[in-house]
Amino acid sequence: MEPKHDERRGAITIGFDVSWTMDKGAPFTAAELEKIRADFPILHQKVHGHPLVYLDNAATSQKPRAVIDALVHYYEHDNANVHRGIHELSNRASNAYEATRVRAAKFLNARSHDEIIFTRGTTEGINLVAASWALHNLRAGDRILLTEMEHHSNIVPWQLLADRIGAKLAFIPVNGDEGILDLSRLDELLLAPTKLLSITHISNSLGTINPVEEICARARKADVVTIVDGAQASGHRPVDVQEIGCDFYSLSSHKMCGPTGVGILYGRMEQLQRMSPYQGGGDMISDVDYLKSSWAKIPHKFEAGTPNIGDVIAFSAAMDYLDKIGRARIAQHDMELGAYAYERLSALEGIRLFGPKKGRAGVASFLLKDIHAHDVVTIADQRGVALRGGHHCNQPLMKKLGVSSTSRASFYLYNTKEEVDRLVEVLAEIQKFFAA
Ligand SMILES: Cc1ncc(COP(=O)(O)O)c(C=O)c1O
Repeated sequence: MEPKHDERRGAITIGFDVSWTMDKGAPFTAAELEKIRADFPILHQKVHGHPLVYLDNAATSQKPRAVIDALVHYYEHDNANVHRGIHELSNRASNAYEATRVRAAKFLNARSHDEIIFTRGTTEGINLVAASWALHNLRAGDRILLTEMEHHSNIVPWQLLADRIGAKLAFIPVNGDEGILDLSRLDELLLAPTKLLSITHISNSLGTINPVEEICARARKADVVTIVDGAQASGHRPVDVQEIGCDFYSLSSHKMCGPTGVGILYGRMEQLQRMSPYQGGGDMISDVDYLKSSWAKIPHKFEAGTPNIGDVIAFSAAMDYLDKIGRARIAQHDMELGAYAYERLSALEGIRLFGPKKGRAGVASFLLKDIHAHDVVTIADQRGVALRGGHHCNQPLMKKLGVSSTSRASFYLYNTKEEVDRLVEVLAEIQKFFAA
């Protein structure tokens, strides 16, 4: 849909009304799926002579026309720096930038748009909490609780912090290939000296959907501050930060139909008020003197320098798009494809499948006997199927599972069961090739 420039608001409107509804999650009809696919120009191409089957969505998603148009529109009509200028273009850019903050608050059901901080992505959001909250609120001997399935971006920032202040790390165990968290000792692990719990909502390599509401409720009872890594969840299901009950929620726009280089850190106001600035520079100050400065109000206090204006504004179009389709329906579609892939892949001889047998997200990680994941992915690419092979930034989990890498297919709203069938067909060919 063509974005329209709105002279009055100075912002971009994408052309459909977005009222935030938690829809019921009915499956997509074939006609709807076809329409969705038509929204994504990149999908309609051949790769190495075969129709592209894009199954690397956990790494990054493709972008619908509405998002691409919003980005082009911004640079063709409204490009200027935000918050500083008095001229028309700067006002437009500022309005559209701040409108995205309001949009994001609605998308996550935050209490206020002041609880939305723009970042570069999930990784930066977690680093921001480590540098601005944890550095000042934790001390030597305090414990940071993580899980064994965390992405490197939810492990390494805590290792850096722990080294700096003498805090300790502990991990909620994952029970084997099925990849479900063992919560039997959670209450014990949440006792002092644990002060902070940081967990992934959905695992990027296992497809496990963690019960974050329950985990955060148990953490709250123990007075433990909670961070949820929403990289794999925020574009794939309805996310309500108040219902989850977390203190922080970090996400990346590029995994949810939006541009790269933009993310959101949601922070509960009570916690944001306990934080010092993350970086120093323009825009985050109220007054600067040679020896001392005071800070802008929250959330600007945490956004130093010129932000990624165009991509933030186009991210708004991505949120509109996801809500137009319906996030509960996207979740339903993801889970259907995840279950279908699990069933079809299980039938391949000698396959080792990781992640839950039931209730999995749209992610399927596997090993084809002793065929290296890089060989699987390289040959699949020759047949137009885009997969990912490696440790998926989950090296500690891979070590625990006794593997160095897996092949991974990850699905999104535009993928179809026929594409899963194509994946299985290609994998069977690969097995045959290596057996010969
Ligand atoms: C679970 C999880 N957390 C964090 C990240 C990091 O996201 P980004 O690189 O966008 O910061 C990823 C990326 O794959 C992820 O899957």
